[in-house]
Amino acid sequence: MSCFDIQLFRRQFPFFTEQSNWVYLDNAATMQKPQQVLDAIAKFYAKDNSNVHRGAHSLSQQATQSFEDARTSIAQYINASLPEEVIFCSGATAALNQIAFGLMHTVLQPGDRILLTQLEHHANIVPWQLHCQRHGVIIDVVPLTAENKIDLEAYKQLLLLKPKVVSFCHISNVLGHIQPAMEMIALAKAEDAITVIDGAQGIVHEQPNMQLLDCDFYVFSGHKLYGPTGIGVLYGKYKQLQQLTPIFAGGEMIDQVSFASTSFNQLPFRLEAGTPNIAGAIGLATAIKWLQNVNQNEIKQHKLLLTQHLHCGLARIQGIDILSSPIHNAGIVTFNVVGEHHSDVAELLNQQKIAVRAGQHCAMPLFSYLQQRGAVRCSLAAYNTFEDVNQCLFALEQAMEILTA
Ligand SMILES: Cc1ncc(COP(=O)(O)O)c(C=O)c1O
Repeated sequence: MSCFDIQLFRRQFPFFTEQSNWVYLDNAATMQKPQQVLDAIAKFYAKDNSNVHRGAHSLSQQATQSFEDARTSIAQYINASLPEEVIFCSGATAALNQIAFGLMHTVLQPGDRILLTQLEHHANIVPWQLHCQRHGVIIDVVPLTAENKIDLEAYKQLLLLKPKVVSFCHISNVLGHIQPAMEMIALAKAEDAITVIDGAQGIVHEQPNMQLLDCDFYVFSGHKLYGPTGIGVLYGKYKQLQQLTPIFAGGEMIDQVSFASTSFNQLPFRLEAGTPNIAGAIGLATAIKWLQNVNQNEIKQHKLLLTQHLHCGLARIQGIDILSSPIHNAGIVTFNVVGEHHSDVAELLNQQKIAVRAGQHCAMPLFSYLQQRGAVRCSLAAYNTFEDVNQCLFALEQAMEILTA
């Protein structure tokens, strides 16, 4: 039995005091922020606000120090080899765009192949697609099993086509299913592919270890990990980052400029054009430090029990079609009320102050594959309670009564 003190944990989030009548089950979209993160951001703007890397004054030097300390904390958290392997960007989408753009100009040649999976978020499809057609690069897609998990046998077969890049999500934002990332990375590396992991949901589930995973790139967004919006991380092995063409130019990423040519700064600055999100980086590093003081196993166990509770509760309601499997699930349960539109269900939940997401969750190819118009998604976080889940189930039954009346 978990000894996790949920009430103590929850009290650290002002949102739940301010919005005490809401049940927030839209955590895969964005998470609530603990007071410590809000304080760190407010303190930066109130007391320390200054630009980084360019001021002659002490305030700028202090801001630079805090910004670079944030990079070091994050590098340590994900066990990167060097702080320079952490590139700040606006989020997972920006990071994936940078990788796709960067590789398309250096590594990928016409006729090369890229391997994605049927589970991907648009952010891990469209950036590749944007360039593939123009550069004559072919995209292959790994299908799913009957349980909507990655088909590993098909994956192995597709790897025989020698893709130059394999890019997949650590955890599906639609179904919550956790991919066997280590195994998939090892298989891809055996075929000399560059591995890109979309960790937007993965980083929330567990602390990723870059040395163990051994992927070439891993990306995530701060706002899904108790941090602010507008900040994210592109982790890359130093050598891999060096071969990315910068997607943005200007500011600190420059070494020398003339109208004839430009030379670039070293990493990490080469991939961080313009003024970075300084407060965001400090906020994210604060979120990570705060998280390190919480027992991760207790959180995981609490979320596992909540997920099972939600899944069982939904399974007991007649007329619910659950798309997510409860096995190897990171706390996302997606479902439909048979015969009803997902938006109607979500709106009736909204009217009862249950916040969920409805639609195709930025994963249209997955919904085409599942032959569903969309679905309702409940995504759980460590601060959710059993009472939250019970209220959601009760509200859902009320909604179904209204819809079938
Ligand atoms: C799996 C996955 N990848 C990428 C993204 C994009 O993240 P962001 O919008 O923070 O850039 C999301 C956001 O929901 C996601 O869930």
